[in-house]
Amino acid sequence: MEKLFIIANWKSHKTSNEAKSWAQGLLGFQFPESHEKETIICPPFTSLPILKTFIDENNLPIKMGAQNVSQFEEGAYTGEISAREVGEFAEYVIIGHSERRKNFSETDEILAEKVQKALSQNLIPIFCVQGADTLIPEGVKLVAYEPIFAIGTGLPDTPEDAEMVSKKIKEKYSFVQFVLYGGSVTPEDVNTFTQMQSVDGVLVGGASLDPEKFRQIIENS
Ligand code: PGA
Repeated sequence: MEKLFIIANWKSHKTSNEAKSWAQGLLGFQFPESHEKETIICPPFTSLPILKTFIDENNLPIKMGAQNVSQFEEGAYTGEISAREVGEFAEYVIIGHSERRKNFSETDEILAEKVQKALSQNLIPIFCVQGADTLIPEGVKLVAYEPIFAIGTGLPDTPEDAEMVSKKIKEKYSFVQFVLYGGSVTPEDVNTFTQMQSVDGVLVGGASLDPEKFRQIIENS
């Protein structure tokens, strides 16, 4: 394993002031070198600007990610946020989370368009799949394996399963470089996943909302 990705997915949590307090909670923490561990925060869109400013001003080695991107170019699409607009604040974008597939009817075709729009603006997609059978669009380098039964349930998949699926994905899609595991990751079990050979990091929901827990996840990974 060359590099570990520790990614926080806040989902629809935190106002921009709460986001800033969270980041203040990480001041003073000795982050690992970024060639070893890449820390990425994916807050709601409304917190991207304040967090990016805070992180830049305090020289924190954290990268920004968004949780969604429009499948359209900028234009007459009320309520949408285009890849060009996301790119002003973020380097990464989560695409294809099962909550978006389920609650917002995002199909494989829509997700492929989102990936294409993201790549056209040099955003790096963090593409979520539920197993090795989920279709992964060409050009995706970073994948997160997130089995639905493990998301937000406190019942993570086994590290052995995560290893098997990650390995399968890399064998099946030669363009995929990194596969992360996501689903009920905690400071206590994070290293059981990150020590697996084909698992290149974690995508963390609930446990990333508390800066202290997230700090422990980075430390223990
Ligand atoms: P969880 O969410 O860590 O709260 O299970 C993970 C995710 O959905 O990305």
